[in-house]
Amino acid sequence: MKFTNYLLAFLLISIGFQNPSFSQTYGKNGMVVSDHYLASEVGVEILKKGGNAVDATVATAFALAVTHPEAGNIGGGGFIVLMKSDGEVTTFDFREKAPLGASPSMFLDENGKIKDNSNHSGLLSVGVPGTVAGLYQAHQKYGKLPWKDLVNPAIKLAKKGFPMSWGLYRAATRLAGGNESWDIMRDYFRGADGEIVAPGELWKQAALAKTLQEIRDHGRDGFYKGKVAEEIESYMKANGGIITKADLERYEAVERRPVKSTFNDFEIFSMPPPSSGGVALIEMMNLMEAADISKVEFNSTAYVHLVAEAMRRAFADRAEFLGDPDFNPEMPVDKLISKEFAKARFKTLDLTKASKSDSSRYGQLYGGDHTTHFSVVDKDGNAISMTYTLENSYGVKMGSSKLGFIFNNEMGDFNPIPGVTTSTGLIGSDPNLVAPEKRMLSSMTPTIVAKDGKPYLVIGSPGGRTIINTVFQTVLNVLVYDMRIDRAIEAMKIHHQWLPDQITYERNLLSPDTRKALEQMGHTLRPTTNLGVLMGITYDAALGVYVGAADSSSEDGAARAY
Ligand code: DON
Repeated sequence: MKFTNYLLAFLLISIGFQNPSFSQTYGKNGMVVSDHYLASEVGVEILKKGGNAVDATVATAFALAVTHPEAGNIGGGGFIVLMKSDGEVTTFDFREKAPLGASPSMFLDENGKIKDNSNHSGLLSVGVPGTVAGLYQAHQKYGKLPWKDLVNPAIKLAKKGFPMSWGLYRAATRLAGGNESWDIMRDYFRGADGEIVAPGELWKQAALAKTLQEIRDHGRDGFYKGKVAEEIESYMKANGGIITKADLERYEAVERRPVKSTFNDFEIFSMPPPSSGGVALIEMMNLMEAADISKVEFNSTAYVHLVAEAMRRAFADRAEFLGDPDFNPEMPVDKLISKEFAKARFKTLDLTKASKSDSSRYGQLYGGDHTTHFSVVDKDGNAISMTYTLENSYGVKMGSSKLGFIFNNEMGDFNPIPGVTTSTGLIGSDPNLVAPEKRMLSSMTPTIVAKDGKPYLVIGSPGGRTIINTVFQTVLNVLVYDMRIDRAIEAMKIHHQWLPDQITYERNLLSPDTRKALEQMGHTLRPTTNLGVLMGITYDAALGVYVGAADSSSEDGAARAY
């Protein structure tokens, strides 16, 4: 063979190894898997500069607020689960809070009905944002690099711009001409020429860059006090909102103990209330252990039935018992995540036929895909699972153009009508009614599974109530069915949430014969295009390497490693 042929062969092999469509990424020293490749790159750069997983998380989160604004945010809230290299696990709760002026009936008209969808649209639906406080608190306690070094990459992306993707462009065309109350959205995606920035062209966000500079220079206070807080209050006042400077100043993130359990040889750590995610996940994992799921073949009728029945039960308990722990000191979390409870629950399950969800009790609505999760590991073995959200895609689609960021509409996660629960989706139970300074119940499920005291799987997803179930099934796929991380993420998922009483399944991934058999057992089935946008990292102990994958349903998502 001629030398040039060798060269060509070598080049092709190298390209093969670098092929971006190859669905797993390997990293010896660390990894970030997020919904935007640029945010993953920002995180990995921080790791390369000697930052730890907390530093990389802060930098990635701010970068996503620029590059993935449908859910990446400074105007919303979320949760971090951190496993430190010494094996200790902690969590940060920076869920939004109801403002001081909120009340249980704030969304109702004189007939007791929800007024103009006000729990989800307009400024009454905005919760006091928590993201900046949460990132700052996590960094103060566990970060290594200076705070400013972690905010700067996001400022650069906002100032200098980054290439508009087709996914963003699609949203831009939809939102720029949309509802007239979506004030900030009209000019949000436009360039200096007044046109929506075309795919491939640089999209710059000057106002957001300035707000981020305040946060860089003044830390938490750069958002909750001073110029930014002033502008939030005056924007709220002028547009019918009730969040004040006092709300902002009083906001605090909270470090909480994780909910934890075991599954065979693994340890599972996840988010406690005010997220329902960890409790429901552990309840279902315990039920799987009681049912000895390892004897059940993946994707069989028995598998779908068992998994759906576990979901039905966990979601009923979620609706009945869970809310903000600071307002519900009697919540039976320890009982719900106990092995005894799962065994008792398993006894109520008929392996040959579907149970019925009692529609006079608790039900809840679906969610979309509009939250964002990312997973981070560093060279010392620290791992972070972080999910944060604006609730709907682009939240309430309102915000001050001077500040350049969008507010959440998270108040919609409270139970809107006290005492009213319906089979079509409303829940009215007490633990999650609105109260001043209360946190609304979430389904976000940032999770870390450990083996021998070290992170084994770091995982999470967006998707409203479906989050709990897609994380649950991905954990099963890795722990029980030995799937590699990309397969575990892509494999068929179902969703059942007690009410409506039906199994939602990913179209084309469940065989017609299986569906028929399930229907004969009494299940109702409903197809959907996709469930979950999971971002995961596993650890391959034999190779001593991290292996990560971003869900293919994320348009700009990517794993980056070094
Ligand atoms: O905290 C929660 O559970 C929801 N606000 C998440 C929302 C979501 O994933 C997308 N939904 N529309």
